[in-house]
Amino acid sequence: MSTYKEVKKVTTHTVQDMKLRGEKISMLTAYDYSMAKIFDAAKIDVLLVGDSASNVMHGHETTLPITLDEMISHAAAVIKAVDRALVVVDLPFGSYQGNSKEALVSSIRIMKEAEAHAVKLEGGSEVVESIKRILTAGIPVMGHLGLTPQSIYKFGTYEVRAKEDAEAAKLMEDAKLLEEAGCFALVLEKIPSKLAKEVALAIKIPVIGIGAGPDVDGQVLVSHDMLGINKDFSPKFLRRYLNLYDEIKSAVERYVEDVKSVDFPNEKEQY
Ligand code: KIV
Repeated sequence: MSTYKEVKKVTTHTVQDMKLRGEKISMLTAYDYSMAKIFDAAKIDVLLVGDSASNVMHGHETTLPITLDEMISHAAAVIKAVDRALVVVDLPFGSYQGNSKEALVSSIRIMKEAEAHAVKLEGGSEVVESIKRILTAGIPVMGHLGLTPQSIYKFGTYEVRAKEDAEAAKLMEDAKLLEEAGCFALVLEKIPSKLAKEVALAIKIPVIGIGAGPDVDGQVLVSHDMLGINKDFSPKFLRRYLNLYDEIKSAVERYVEDVKSVDFPNEKEQY
C-alpha cells in the first residue's frame, strides 16, 4: 500500500522514507538548466546528472570519455534550475577507480564546484573502500550494480546482466555490502526482474531500477530516450513518452521553409 506525501525538497532521507511508505521514487537524467527546470516543475523526485551525458550530450559511443570537468559543468547547470529534486551526480570513469583518495577528491569537487547533493558510482566490493571514504566527508553516495556501462569493455555487450547464478549471487552480496558501507540508495541496471525484486526485499535502502522490472522502489530512465530525442536506441525496457526527434525536425523544417520563402518574419514579427 503506497501513500503519497507532498514534499517541498527531496533529500536522501525523503527517498528512504518513500521506500518505507511504499511510495515509488521517480528519477530521470538531466544535463542542462532548461530541461532540469521543466523536470523539477513536473515534480520529479531525483535528477541524475548521469555520465550518459557522454553519449547523449557529447556524442561519444560510450560513457568512458566524459571528464570530471564536463560532469561538473552539467551538474552546476542542473543545480541552478532545481528547487525540489534531489540532484545526484555520476563520478565519471577515471575519477574514482584509482584509489579511495582520488574518489574523495573527485566527489568533493562535484559537491563544491557544482553544489550537488550526492554522488553515484559504479561497482560493488571493488569500490567499497572508496564509498566509505567519500562518506567520511559527509557526501551521500548512491551505488550502481548490474549493467555498469563504465565496464562495457569488460562485459563486451550491453546485454542483461546477472542471468547466471554466480553473477546473481555476487550482485546480491555487493548490494548488501553497499548498504552496509552506507550508500543511501542503489541503482540496478538491466538485470532480471526476479533478482531485482529479491535485492529490493533484502536491503533497506531504496533500489531504483532501469530495465529491472516493477518490483523495486523506483524507476530511472535516460531523459533523451524517454522523450524520443534518440531514435536509434529502443531497448525493451524503454517507454517513450514523446517523439521529440520527429517533432523538432518538423519544426526546424518549417522554420527553414519560412525563412527561405520570406514568410518569416511577418508584419507583426518586426519593429
Ligand atoms: O548515466 C546514466 O544515465 C545512468 C543511468 C542509466 C542510471 O547511470
